Amino acid sequence: MCGIVGYVGHSSGRVNVGHGALDVVLEGLRRLEYRGYDSAGVAVVADGTISSRKKSGKLSNLLAELEEKPLPDSVTGIGHTRWATHGGPTDQNAHPHLSDGGKLALIHNGIIENFAELKLELLEKGTVFASETDTEVAAALLGDIFRNQLNGDASNGGLTKAMQLACQRLEGAFTLLAVHADQPDVVVAARRNSPLVVGLGEGENFLGSDVSGFIDYTRRAVELGQDQIVTITADTVEITDFFGAPAQGKEYHVDWDPASAEKGGYPSFMEKEIHDQPDAVANTLLGRSDLDGKLTLDEMRIDPEHLKKINKIIVLACGTSAYSGQVAKYAIEHWCRIATEVELSHEFRYRDPIVDENTLIVSISQSGETMDTLMAVRYAKEQGAKTLSICNTNGSTIPRESDAVLYTHAGPEIAVASTKAFLAQITAAYLLGLYLAQLRGNKFQGEIKDILADLGKVPAKIQQVLDHVDEIKDLARSMAGAKSVLFLGRHVGFPVAMEGALKLKELAYIHAEGFAAGELKHGPIALIEEGQPVFVVVPSPRGRNSLHAKVVSNIQEVRARGAKTIVIAEEGDEAVKAYAEHVFYIPETPTLLAPLLAAVPLQIFALELATAKGYDVDQPRNLAKSVTVE
Ligand code: M6R
Repeated sequence: MCGIVGYVGHSSGRVNVGHGALDVVLEGLRRLEYRGYDSAGVAVVADGTISSRKKSGKLSNLLAELEEKPLPDSVTGIGHTRWATHGGPTDQNAHPHLSDGGKLALIHNGIIENFAELKLELLEKGTVFASETDTEVAAALLGDIFRNQLNGDASNGGLTKAMQLACQRLEGAFTLLAVHADQPDVVVAARRNSPLVVGLGEGENFLGSDVSGFIDYTRRAVELGQDQIVTITADTVEITDFFGAPAQGKEYHVDWDPASAEKGGYPSFMEKEIHDQPDAVANTLLGRSDLDGKLTLDEMRIDPEHLKKINKIIVLACGTSAYSGQVAKYAIEHWCRIATEVELSHEFRYRDPIVDENTLIVSISQSGETMDTLMAVRYAKEQGAKTLSICNTNGSTIPRESDAVLYTHAGPEIAVASTKAFLAQITAAYLLGLYLAQLRGNKFQGEIKDILADLGKVPAKIQQVLDHVDEIKDLARSMAGAKSVLFLGRHVGFPVAMEGALKLKELAYIHAEGFAAGELKHGPIALIEEGQPVFVVVPSPRGRNSLHAKVVSNIQEVRARGAKTIVIAEEGDEAVKAYAEHVFYIPETPTLLAPLLAAVPLQIFALELATAKGYDVDQPRNLAKSVTVE
């Protein structure tokens, strides 16, 4: 999830009053920096050449570089702020990437799934690559088409034509913006499964990942459709499909203020991130399997032969990340038949754990910097274990120090309370489980393909849940005075219950506990008194082992003692209605995938209740996003 800006104006316009393309682009990047801050870069077209600067780290590093090495005045420019996916957060991997002998500059948001095969083809033609990114492959492809297929003919929309031909060959999710020295007054952009908006000005036009990229200059925006290409000049905006047929965008007026534009119009980053979840799951799945369902985890640098010998997995994580590990344990053990423990990182190395070279340590961390997890991973390495990191932050310390990495592609998570990272972590851990099952022959390829197909349907189902949250919001507001809320679940519903309780604790400062529903009778049921709110995550009635019936009994037990029961159940589960004050339905999905849906209403509940109490949901008291102390 990167931030992208493009601009074309007239020299008689902003440049004339000292605000050239570079200023506009940098202001856009400042507003889009929430989308990624691994590196930033810009390119402008001036005097028949492309001039570009890029720097790893925050935008401030690029600004310092520009201070030292200024760029010429220009009316055409593009800019990028990066959230690293392919290739670490280095200067070389920063965008823009150049091709066609430095005459073409390209920036990209997304993942090019078939970059490896395209790279091979371009290498055979003699292309030299300077970075590890999929973006540079797209830049090289575009440059190659422009130069060799279109003979470098810039007249008659050469760059637009080249972009159309390049997009016909690209797979995956991408927003691309390109400028060429031979077409100095044009920015060409393309989008597939990745955001891009056009800003309409007077004698100037803009492009942005979202409207915050140009909100300081215009409120007139055009939403592009899927698989569209847009060519902007200072006075024109032309849209086509990938084959050159004219297409239409949808114009609308932006009435957000600049601050809420950064949050996608939501009042908080947390709410925005909850709504980002369909994309977080979809992007984490992207590019990891072929049409037969064969998984290729390209960041997997542990010898497959070694992985076949693994006899134990220990998942190390803290907080929400640990709950995602607990969900994953059920799937990994079920699919791979490898004993899997989940341990809080800070407890791990103080108990003399049994770890050897046949143990696979799977650390899960959104930030990749959590000190407790880092120290636990280091300890496990010293004991000879292989270490694999599931992480959302490319190039952070834990993945760097691990033998293998599986990145979640949730994009930056700004709110302290983790939401989209949780779902992306479960998704990535499931991919790991399926990969191990494939490698070790625990599952037939067809079975893996079926599970991947079910996972592929999850983003749309999350969206369905998000489209029906009014009732849970109402309930949350009505419960702003609650002193304690309990959460019950069984099987994969148990860690979901604990995550629901954690969200409420950290956001609304309310006492909340998550219990395994079966444990109730061993003590916690003593807590139940008249009016005690109890959330129950109910498994699918279609599931195995009469688990559903057991949980329904648990609901009856607490209800009989006065609890107010709030139930999350699968659509069509009529049986729970009789025992619940409130039922929130989630779409049908296989049992192991249900946490990806059931967690969402609990997130919304905590967010809304904390908001009703007037608390800052993005920065709850006493907490930090990244806990870098032990
Ligand atoms: O960055 P990490 O995933 O390693 O962080 C782990 C926990 O600190 C984190 O999940 C924390 O529990 C969140 N605030 C939960 O919302």
